Formats: sequence, structure tokens, C-alpha cells
Amino acid sequence: PSVAVIVVAAGSGTRLGAGAPKAFVGLDEHTVLRTALDGVFAAASAQVVVVAPAGYEGAARTDALAAAGEHADLVRVVTGGATRQASVAAGLAAVWAEVDIVLVHDAARALTPPDVFARVIDAVRAGAPGALPVLPVVDTIKRVADGYVIGPVDRAELAAAQTPQGFDRAVLDAAYLAADREYTDDAAVVAAHVAGTAGRIAAVAGDPLGFKITGPDDLARARALVAQHPV
Ligand code: C5P
Repeated sequence: PSVAVIVVAAGSGTRLGAGAPKAFVGLDEHTVLRTALDGVFAAASAQVVVVAPAGYEGAARTDALAAAGEHADLVRVVTGGATRQASVAAGLAAVWAEVDIVLVHDAARALTPPDVFARVIDAVRAGAPGALPVLPVVDTIKRVADGYVIGPVDRAELAAAQTPQGFDRAVLDAAYLAADREYTDDAAVVAAHVAGTAGRIAAVAGDPLGFKITGPDDLARARALVAQHPV
């Protein structure tokens, strides 16, 4: 089956405070987006839709073509929306007709290793309607309200979700078509709109390197990792 990866890069990066949209901040001589796209092309033979902030489409295309090398025909760039979900919808509308597996990946998870992509794609190829990478939760988690601990949470049944989240294309298309409000991630959009086992999302092993660059500390960590292990 043919695979497309939607790389959402249209966030403003307000929490990063780096003066540019997060995906266009430098990690080394390359941007966050370029590093993420190098990872995507290293991981999979796939078509890639980059979702860029308005005004940054040209910069996104430059990064995408550099990452794609001889595979320039595998790249499309579209303009994102006000929310991540709107940006994914814009990306989904640009996916090639022949594609039957769609992955949605945060540009901000720029250091995600190739085997995470492979595990997600393999799970969907094996028949799961969707799959996402998870990490175990290491902290003790409490339910808190109004400044008081109101109860424990069984950590064994919790996991932190990462990207890429992968889906059968028809399942993701149908779920996005039906989505009538904002959800926390793509798996939640599918879970809300595809009933029963037809929408059951597989959990595969994530990787600590798939962390999301959100604040200045994350950016410093990503820069240090890239400096140690050039990608
Ligand atoms: O804001 P946050 O870091 O959670 O965003 C996750 C990913 O979604 C980032 O790669 C960001 O660029 C993307 N995004 C987007 N369009 C938005 C908001 C976020 O493509 N409106």
C-alpha cells in the first residue's frame, strides 16, 4: 500500500518564544522542519504533505525539497489553519488519490527515530485502523481539583501519546469529515467517529527521542542532541 505522511508545521510557537514559527527555528544550520523531514524521508518511502503557516509556504518548500533530494515529486506544501486539527484537515485534503495509509506527524517531534515510523506503518499494514506510538508514564499521577488531591490514577493503564499517528486512509478521512469539535489528537478524532473495533487504535512502542519541542528547554535539548549526533 502507498503511504503519505502529513507533517504539521503550522503552529505559531508562542511557547517557544523564538521569534519565528517553531518549525522554522534553527536546530543547527537546519530548521526544526528540515530535521523532521530528513527523518521522515529516512524512515519511509512515502509521499509527504507539509502543512506550513501562512507566509511560510516557500520556506517549507525549500526545506522539503532539500530533504526529498531526487524525490521532489513526492512533496506537496499546503497552508495550515488556526488549530492543529484544521492544519491536519488541510493536509488530508492534499493527500494523493492512490494513498491508502496516512501518517500524521508533528514537525515539532523532529528527532523521532525511523523505527517508530516503521512500527506505526507495520501496525496499519497488519490491519489496524490506526496506530500510535506511546511511552509509559513514569511519574505518579494524581487527580487534582481546586488545589486538592482527589484520587489516585492507576499508572499501569496510562501512556503518553506521540506521533506519527498512522491510519487507514478511509478511516481518517471519514473521521475528519465527521469531526464537529476540537479533539486532542488524530486518534481521538477517529475514536469519536468510528465505532467499535473498526476504530480501535493500536499502541506501539514510542521513543524518548520523539519528544515534542515545546518550550525553550526542549529546544536546548534538541540542539544538544543534534550537536552530539548529527542527523
Ligand atoms: O502546539 P503544539 O506543539 O502542540 O503543536 C503540535 C504540532 O502541530 C506542531 O508541529 C505544530 O506546528 C502543529 N500545528 C499546526 N497548526 C496549528 C497548530 C499546531 O500545524 N494551528
